[in-house]
Amino acid sequence: MSAYAKSRSGPGGPPSRGEPPQGELGPLFDALRDAQRSPAIDCLLHTVADREWGPDDPEVMDLSQPFDVRRQAIMPEEWFPELRSAVGRDLTVAERIALGNEIIRWFLSGILHGEQAAFYISAQLCLRLEDAAAREFMANQAREEARHARAFSRYIARRWGAAYSPGEAFGRLLRDLHDTDRIDYKIVGMSGLIEGFAMGALSNIRAHTLDPALDRMLGHVLRDETVHHNFGTIWLEETRGRYSGLDWQELRHFAHRAYLALRLNLVSIYQRREIYAPLGLDWRRVRLAIRESRGRREKAPGLEEGINPLTVLARNLVRMGLMPTTQARPQHGSSPVLVEAVDS
Ligand SMILES: [Fe+2]
Ligand SMILES: [Fe+2]
Repeated sequence: MSAYAKSRSGPGGPPSRGEPPQGELGPLFDALRDAQRSPAIDCLLHTVADREWGPDDPEVMDLSQPFDVRRQAIMPEEWFPELRSAVGRDLTVAERIALGNEIIRWFLSGILHGEQAAFYISAQLCLRLEDAAAREFMANQAREEARHARAFSRYIARRWGAAYSPGEAFGRLLRDLHDTDRIDYKIVGMSGLIEGFAMGALSNIRAHTLDPALDRMLGHVLRDETVHHNFGTIWLEETRGRYSGLDWQELRHFAHRAYLALRLNLVSIYQRREIYAPLGLDWRRVRLAIRESRGRREKAPGLEEGINPLTVLARNLVRMGLMPTTQARPQHGSSPVLVEAVDS
């Protein structure tokens, strides 16, 4: 078990509240349990029909239109810290397009892995949550995560053929969320952290992309992710009273460690180092060039323009009570950013 899943109270820690051990069938046959339904989660279930869409629908994502990733950029050059550095300035136009498209391929591959993990975690939660509306929500969320995974898989296959493997930090976080027995870690990790971050990252990509097919598909995914994230907020509000002060502190520490993993995945050149060698670049030289172009601080792609995914995530964590507002003080203009994460 790695640092993300470490817990003072261990598996089965708060909030256990009668959720069965994994694999037991008892609640399936307990009709009385269906009497317990969260009205707030039922409200979320009412949005399911309005959000219906399919990854194969050309109205959602038209992949029949020609798009040559060797000649057409998916994101503008300014979006990439690599292309704003001395490394980028030394490249030809074709090489800059190739590097930018490989970086966005790496990020979208990470989103795909996150969708696949969310599918498994939703299915796990469907069998373990106590509230009947929450179980129904998770059954539907598993189906929606499957369609997200299919949408990103189709897009990546059409543009490049295959996805990258996840970076170490992000892959470890996803595995830990899958493996942990803690229901609250799964919900906070998936709905609060992964989906809270995805809302910022996908909004950022959508605000700047030059590929209409990606733009339209992300719009549909974002509508779903907003509802998924709202589920986590509601679930946490409804279970907050069952935590002791120490247990709540432990959950916040878990959220902070997961935040740092997501931040590392976003800003670390080392995490995405496999991109550079095939293009004739040394990742250490890339990292140095970015640091020199910005002083000593690395920043996220697109940080200066549009939505900063870390800012969106910090706001979401504050709203869920997982980050004190005193930690989200203004930086970079008026944006609240988790200071210790950005500076670490
Ligand atoms: Fe998703
Ligand atoms: Fe989701």
